[in-house]
Amino acid sequence: MKESRWTILTTDRVRITTWLASDLQDLAVLHADPLTMRFIGHGRPETVDEARARIAEYRDEQRVRGWTKCRVANRDGDMIGRAGFGESSAGRELAYALRPDQWNRGLATEIASGLVRWHIEHPTVDQSSNGLCAHVEAGNHASVRVLEKAGFHFVDKRFYKGATCDYFECSAAAGACTI
Ligand SMILES: CC(C)(COP(=O)(O)OP(=O)(O)OC[C@H]1O[C@@H](n2cnc3c(N)ncnc32)[C@H](O)[C@@H]1OP(=O)(O)O)[C@@H](O)C(=O)NCCC(=O)NCCS
Repeated sequence: MKESRWTILTTDRVRITTWLASDLQDLAVLHADPLTMRFIGHGRPETVDEARARIAEYRDEQRVRGWTKCRVANRDGDMIGRAGFGESSAGRELAYALRPDQWNRGLATEIASGLVRWHIEHPTVDQSSNGLCAHVEAGNHASVRVLEKAGFHFVDKRFYKGATCDYFECSAAAGACTI
């Protein structure tokens, strides 16, 4: 039977869905871009094998726990990035990456705001850690701005995955989020 995408969320301009194995090439292109990857992971472009491992991880997380980092497509169905959640001690960690030709059109803010709403509407099974946070590497000013616009506030600086990061929280589970 043919596998189909499952829509997690739609906003005015994007559709956020689960992945198909056939999305590998699109994800590999996104993660091979030095501009996109500058503040993500190791801070360098990733290989096709690394993209293959990531897509397998996303699909596995979606199957097992029901949330992960998802495919973001425009209205024509073309992949323009990925966005969703990683796991953190606070609960979920917001994450997003878009193709550079899509930047500065308000798309990440639209996506982040939609995902905050999704987070509120879909609490984790373990409600003792149902917060929503984000880590931003020093210098990633655009991402800081996105978080501010989506209702996050700066908490402190933390060393995270090998880099000094600004740590943000959105008190979504407590209803204190502004959006
Ligand atoms: C971070 C990212 C998702 C932002 O996406 P986007 O769609 O361009 O974001 P938006 O258009 O919604 O908002 C960007 C905001 O940052 C501002 N901005 C952009 N570049 C900036 C810079 N160099 N310095 C300061 N502000 C900047 C924009 O002016 C805008 O703010 P405004 O609405 O107040 O004018 C995108 O740059 C990206 O995919 N980067 C690579 C992956 C990444 O770093 N992900 C985040 C990891 S924490």
